[in-house]
Amino acid sequence: ISLQYAYADNRIRDHVYEAYKDMWHAANKEDLTLIVTSSYRSYAKQEQIHKRYSNQKGLEWADSVSARAGYSEHQTGLTLDIVTYNSTMDNFEDSDEFKWLKQNSYKYGFILRYPKDKTYITGYDYESWHYRYVGKEIAKEIHDLDITYDEYYAYYLK
Ligand code: DAL
Ligand code: ZN
Repeated sequence: ISLQYAYADNRIRDHVYEAYKDMWHAANKEDLTLIVTSSYRSYAKQEQIHKRYSNQKGLEWADSVSARAGYSEHQTGLTLDIVTYNSTMDNFEDSDEFKWLKQNSYKYGFILRYPKDKTYITGYDYESWHYRYVGKEIAKEIHDLDITYDEYYAYYLK
């Protein structure tokens, strides 16, 4: 991903990149700047991340904030962690960029994958920065119904 849109060393599938660039430019027209901080991850990279959390605060906590290797959507190349300059994952929720994504990301095919107060459904803590590409049609349905991807999958796909 070009450094215009991301921090260094980020990679993503082509069709997701195209959708993200469309979204980036739409946000930028409103003087907002999106920046990708994490994207495609290999098995080894995911293992390293999960292990680091586990060493910090134990396995149970690690499992609530990070997927085990082999289970992260980051490994599919369909997921982007998005923040903005001057904000980290911890305070991204307070930014105008987050508010914009909340209203608009579905128009570009992205959904907030781990919403607030949905941990009992998704299994993960709220992640204001983690967006999964599902395509425009499904993203709109999930947005309009205000459900998680887990529910969409259980009701409509499975
Ligand atoms: N943080 C998300 C759950 C992941 O590790 O894929
Ligand atoms: Zn993520």
